[in-house]
Amino acid sequence: MPRLKAPGQGLTSATRGDTGMVMPRAVRSKLQDKLQDKLQDKLPDMPPPTGRRTPRGSRVETAQLVLPGLTNVRGTIFGGNLMQWIDIAAGIAAARHAGGPVVTASMDRLHFLSPVQLGEVVLLQAQVNFAARTSMEVGVRVLAENQSTFERRQTTRAYLTFVAVDENGRPRPVPRLHPETADERRREKDARRRRAVRLRERRAMKTA
Ligand SMILES: CC(C)(COP(=O)(O)OP(=O)(O)OC[C@H]1O[C@@H](n2cnc3c(N)ncnc32)[C@H](O)[C@@H]1OP(=O)(O)O)[C@@H](O)C(=O)NCCC(=O)NCCS
Repeated sequence: MPRLKAPGQGLTSATRGDTGMVMPRAVRSKLQDKLQDKLQDKLPDMPPPTGRRTPRGSRVETAQLVLPGLTNVRGTIFGGNLMQWIDIAAGIAAARHAGGPVVTASMDRLHFLSPVQLGEVVLLQAQVNFAARTSMEVGVRVLAENQSTFERRQTTRAYLTFVAVDENGRPRPVPRLHPETADERRREKDARRRRAVRLRERRAMKTA
């Protein structure tokens, strides 16, 4: 993984640590290297701006807390809020793959498998499953996490299609996707099948 910055850059270049003690240059440089490595560990993998694009490179993981304004009278989340979070996480994944702006073309059927309660955390995991010419399918897994037991359960799974657009809002080609694992190759195959269904539905809608 490329370094963020050379050792000593971006991090503190002061000669005193938090304790106010003067630190020899070699010790300071070692500490900075260690800190840099720790920072790198915490950063998600990002795709390079050009070159080989992988599903992993597009991956987005985000967490949302279900606050009172987001629930219905039964204290469970409004489906529309969940759909918005899904759209945002998936859109970020698609834009990472496309290397630029995208628009949502469609969202497949959504089934809410279990209600999400007030105070629970919603975890969203999104990544590009398949890239066609100008469009991409993004899969989103949504989990609910209980804040007392830390138990997690699947709430829904969603598939969305995004289209990369140019400055005039016209579709523009996206890079090829390079699946790396057996799971990613399976997801790509399944996504091609879903795309065929979607395009049939779109044609039918246009002629209806
Ligand atoms: C999505 C949009 C850019 C497609 O433009 P278009 O002129 O219809 O373009 P095309 O027919 O050439 O389709 C472009 C690609 O999108 C795909 N596509 C278009 N509509 C789709 C749909 N409803 N579901 C799945 N894929 C769709 C096409 O299959 C094609 O994919 P490919 O190039 O990878 O083969 C256009 O319809 C649009 O701007 N829609 C509104 C988007 C929007 O406002 N979203 C909500 C807010 S972000």
